[in-house]
Amino acid sequence: MAILNPILTPRRYLTVVLVTVISLHYFLSTSSTEYGHLTSFGTLKEQMHLTSVTTNTSTIALAEPYNHSTALQPVHNNNDTHFSHGRRANATFVFLCRNSDLNGVVSSIVSMEDRFNRAYSYPWVFLNDEEFTEEFKQRVRVLTDAPMSFGVIPREHWVQPDWIDENRARQGRMKLMNQRVIYGGSIPYRNMCRFNSGFFFQHELLQPYRYYWRVEPNVKFFCGLDYDPFLYMEEHDKVYSFTISLLEHQPTVPTLWDSVKEFISEYPYFIEPENAMNFISDDGGEKYNLCHWWSNFEIADMDFWRGEAYTKFFEFLEAKGGFYYERWGDAPVHSIAAALFARKDQIHFFRDIGYRHEDFQHCPSGIQWSAGRCACDPKDTFDYSQASCLPRFEGLFQ
Ligand SMILES: *[C@@H]1O[C@H](CO)[C@@H](O)[C@H](O)[C@H]1NC(C)=O
Ligand SMILES: *[C@@H]1O[C@H](CO)[C@@H](O)[C@H](O)[C@H]1NC(C)=O
Ligand SMILES: *[C@@H]1O[C@H](CO)[C@@H](O)[C@H](O)[C@H]1NC(C)=O
Ligand SMILES: *[C@@H]1O[C@H](CO)[C@@H](O)[C@H](O)[C@H]1NC(C)=O
Repeated sequence: MAILNPILTPRRYLTVVLVTVISLHYFLSTSSTEYGHLTSFGTLKEQMHLTSVTTNTSTIALAEPYNHSTALQPVHNNNDTHFSHGRRANATFVFLCRNSDLNGVVSSIVSMEDRFNRAYSYPWVFLNDEEFTEEFKQRVRVLTDAPMSFGVIPREHWVQPDWIDENRARQGRMKLMNQRVIYGGSIPYRNMCRFNSGFFFQHELLQPYRYYWRVEPNVKFFCGLDYDPFLYMEEHDKVYSFTISLLEHQPTVPTLWDSVKEFISEYPYFIEPENAMNFISDDGGEKYNLCHWWSNFEIADMDFWRGEAYTKFFEFLEAKGGFYYERWGDAPVHSIAAALFARKDQIHFFRDIGYRHEDFQHCPSGIQWSAGRCACDPKDTFDYSQASCLPRFEGLFQ
């Protein structure tokens, strides 16, 4: 999906590491809310060895330090006993994939289960534009006792609508193919972007849930987590989060910003006064700077997408036909909406979640890297490479 090259000079990296370590030290020693139970470096060191509970059948790493006075509640799945902390968020993983993605799906689930979910057993929801095969279900079910459900996407949420002028859409595809834009000629890719923009959170299998963590085939989660990011979202009133931010290919969104500006003037009351406009525009909203959060990783609040502002916004964009006449991605669409309809402090950078989706990765550094026992090279991180929009995000809070 990406064709940009991360550029990170060693000197720049050193500065980044130093600044991160120093500011983290300051942060950890002053904040008691962000890290909950962590109050000083001393306790953090103790936490670095994940506590584990040994049962007769298995040893299970706990995601939080073991508190002997807190009763662990056994969760029964397939009659296997697992331990999980009592309080969980109203949340699920969402995995849009095809039967042919099976090996990549398996590898992503293993990564997520090993590094986070085995201590939580959050459910998995798999969505496909056709029925999952029995082989697919068997091979993913064997990986975990977490509940799993498999759904088919309603046709009208997936295929190119009839009212789209196919001649115009074909011309749009040809144009992007000639410009050698990635997925420029692909209709399925456009279906997927539109589905992820406006429909996944309407799927019946997702109705019971509020927060979701989007997972894709062949992604990697590098670090162990000693807390629950879903609960973090809930407790800190966050609506959207990311690990990587970057620039969109301009030819895929030539008229997107014009539509956004039209929407803003038609529905000014949906714009949050404490918005993150400066993340997506360098001139106060005149032009789109192409920055977006890379949406193949998302932990976010579906009630935000289900709300009035986003519903109207998606309908407005859908009516323009840009998902098919151009190649509007769900990443810029989600990012622009989150930046405009949420408060900037409701958007969160999960700096401590190491994540890779080809061709980029985010790897934490310093104490977060060691505390998370991260299986990635901290020098290999997109954060401050040339095409990264992270400095713009950080600039919002300076
Ligand atoms: C382990 O299993 C044995 C035999 O079934 C039982 O006597 C013992 O209490 C079990 N230990 C724990 C920690 O459950
Ligand atoms: C452990 O749990 C008890 C009871 O819920 C609580 O009072 C105590 O603060 C907890 N200790 C830590 C270190 O979280
Ligand atoms: C699993 O547990 C349920 C509820 O305790 C029980 O009814 C069922 O027979 C068990 N199944 C197996 C295979 O042990
Ligand atoms: C979880 O969130 C969804 C969406 O907001 C809601 O409909 C559902 O009632 C919630 N479930 C629980 C147990 O709170």
